[in-house]
Amino acid sequence: MTSSERPTGDQAELDVAAIRKDFPLLHQEQEGKRLVFLDSAASSQRPVHVVEAMSEFYYTSYANVHRGVYRVAERATNRFEQARATVARFIGAGSAAEVVFTKNATEAINLVAGSWGKTNLGPGDAIVLTILEHHANIVPWQMLAAERGFEIRWIPATDDGRLDLSDLDRLVDGAKLVAFTSMSNVTGSITAAEQIIAAAKAAGALTLVDACQSVPHLPTDVTELGADFVTFSGHKMLGPTGIGILWARAELLEAMPPFLGGGGMILNVTTDGFLPDAPPARFEAGTPPIAEAIGLAAAIDYLESVGMEAIRRHEVALTAYALRKLSTELGDSLTIHGPSEPAARGGVLSLELHGVHAHDVSQVLDEHAVCIRPGHHCAKPLMKHLGVPATARASFYLYNDTDDADALAEALVAARDFFAL
Ligand code: ALA
Repeated sequence: MTSSERPTGDQAELDVAAIRKDFPLLHQEQEGKRLVFLDSAASSQRPVHVVEAMSEFYYTSYANVHRGVYRVAERATNRFEQARATVARFIGAGSAAEVVFTKNATEAINLVAGSWGKTNLGPGDAIVLTILEHHANIVPWQMLAAERGFEIRWIPATDDGRLDLSDLDRLVDGAKLVAFTSMSNVTGSITAAEQIIAAAKAAGALTLVDACQSVPHLPTDVTELGADFVTFSGHKMLGPTGIGILWARAELLEAMPPFLGGGGMILNVTTDGFLPDAPPARFEAGTPPIAEAIGLAAAIDYLESVGMEAIRRHEVALTAYALRKLSTELGDSLTIHGPSEPAARGGVLSLELHGVHAHDVSQVLDEHAVCIRPGHHCAKPLMKHLGVPATARASFYLYNDTDDADALAEALVAARDFFAL
């Protein structure tokens, strides 16, 4: 392990061999075959820097935050708030107070629905979602709509799994919120966030961007983006599980009531009631994910040391290579869902090997030590639109290279030939 040898600079091409040294799990072999990890869209691996940062924090500086006045507790609180500032800088937030730590991105969206939504949505209102959403950005709104009686409209998708924005102005007309993914976790399609936000603003609607799939892979500036809410999770961007982020404009957070009640989110409590604290504390009831915030800050340091622009260039080039390789090797026996233009997508390839169920594909690939995710990817409305019950999804990150794409192609050819017998 070489935790001190961090890759440096915003390199045009990543030194994947050097990066891989920082990810011990990737050094494994499975039955004599090199492990090829292609499931980062579900959850990424993490470098030694992240695990070491969390261990160092636990061993030297751990205490609960915003409670004790002894020095270790103050150190813990400072480190925790420094982590919040690191997240704010990484996403271009106006201030750290706009960054709320949650359990995961799903909880962040539930927070917006349970706080802003419950206060602002009722009978006669409408919100707009898209067919590309994963369940985290559907079900919280459906639960609230059942309770509050508002309408949910849907931006449709094209046959190749992009958003069809031809009727956007009519769909957002009169809506109070447009909530959409910045990158599909199924087709990899990067959505036209600027266009959607501009249309929503013109209609007087707020916007929520589910940025789970884009923040780990693309440079992000929430202020420039002009959205109202942005959500993402730590575990897809080299950080630990158990931490998600809600970013929202300060004046929105200030006007929102608490979502969860408990310790840490109040100014005062009496037998008659309570007075909530200011954001972000107002939305962080109970002991927050403390060491997880330290780990997330270390993940951000790592991503920045490699360079987000460089990561994006690497993934576009790798996706282009994989698209070419898979269509050369598998031809008509394989459908790759999503836009054909690599620059229009992230490194997510949803594959349909004709005549073979995605779970069977995934099992054969595991025999070749290639890890992918089969299934509906928590995006059933999109799977219905694509006309498939499941796909075999391979997803790339900064530690993948063309050898991994070759291993994927080879294993898919083996799966096709195996089931053709
Ligand atoms: N949303 C995650 C995925 O796409 C869990 O796999």
